[in-house]
Amino acid sequence: MQHYSQRLSWCFSTNSFSRLIEEKRQSGAALLDLTTSNPTEALADYPHGQINRAYAEVSDFRYQPDAFGALQAREAVATEYAKRGLPVSPEQVALTASTSEAYALLFKMFCDAGDEVLVPVPSYPLFEYLARLECVNVVPYPLVYDGNWYIDFPHLKQQINARTRAIVIVNPNNPTGSFLKTRERSTLAELAAEYGLPIISDEVFMDYSIEENSGAARTMVDCDEVLNFSLNGLSKMAGMPQVKLGWIVVSGPKDSVETARMRLELILDTYLSVNTPAQYALRDLFEIGAHVQAKLSECVRQNYSFLRTELASSAIHMLRAEGGWSAVLQLPRIMPEEVWIKRLLAEQNVVVQPGYFFDMPSEAYAVVSLITQPQIMAEGVGRLQSLLA
Ligand SMILES: Cc1ncc(COP(=O)(O)O)c(C=O)c1O
Repeated sequence: MQHYSQRLSWCFSTNSFSRLIEEKRQSGAALLDLTTSNPTEALADYPHGQINRAYAEVSDFRYQPDAFGALQAREAVATEYAKRGLPVSPEQVALTASTSEAYALLFKMFCDAGDEVLVPVPSYPLFEYLARLECVNVVPYPLVYDGNWYIDFPHLKQQINARTRAIVIVNPNNPTGSFLKTRERSTLAELAAEYGLPIISDEVFMDYSIEENSGAARTMVDCDEVLNFSLNGLSKMAGMPQVKLGWIVVSGPKDSVETARMRLELILDTYLSVNTPAQYALRDLFEIGAHVQAKLSECVRQNYSFLRTELASSAIHMLRAEGGWSAVLQLPRIMPEEVWIKRLLAEQNVVVQPGYFFDMPSEAYAVVSLITQPQIMAEGVGRLQSLLA
């Protein structure tokens, strides 16, 4: 009998919800999927041809590895920040294959087995896996909703102990759609400085604001007070998850940045995981991606505005979102969340994500993707409301 690593000590059987979806698919049911977060499927007019031409423009396939990524690609990333009024130098940029990989690299850099990172809850369920695969424990700190989401700082502070190695923020958060506020950013930087903790700031939805929000601090890349790693990538920013290209922007006090960069270089050099053609095509991919982003943003706003109007006089309540690709729908507690989600699937052929996937603090919630095609959203939400009858 082989010995397998403890870091894989998950239950490998599929959950009853996934089994139900599979059974439905096999029975030939036409499912209305309100969870699609793959832009290559969500956009009917996805620019396959343009991406093809961007790759075709690459004529130099020599392998000239650089741990941080090709200079021209890092310059292209820096230019994107400049367009958003944010000064970032190519030396601050490290290319990765994805944001998920960036988390893994940073956990390797800061944590020994059994160390802890603080992560927001509710949030993105992949943290648990990313951390566990590095033998790291995630310790949740709460985001609280009172008409707007905010970080519960007293609680966050209580969670810091001798094994804490980093504070993760997701800005805007998935699925709550909440942006970090300017005053929260100051508090966070003070706290991180007080405890000597780096910040890992996941900014993949940075460009997707739903409403104007003057109090939002969209990024940490211009943070000088504390060591910070801002994560982003083509996956969401350009709607190109298939290209597998992301990046980390390192910022903070000069000495801390230098020390961190040396360690990051060693880890990056061990894998050299970012493929060369994507790096050389990056400038063009950003150009194409700007149009993809505009279409996705349009879809997000259209769906959000539809949901707000449609649910205004319904027993289903949409929580306020400021950005991102998700909407959280609070369902009346006439039945448990699991029953809501399963009945919606079984009786109405509609797929939504249950709130518990994201560790929502109570029941009953459904999370829908705002990049769902608007006509599918309209039909799906109509069927959801029919369960109220
Ligand atoms: C908040 C957040 N961060 C990171 C990712 C993963 O991004 P990538 O495709 O770059 O690994 C996701 C994917 O859904 C996400 O929602």
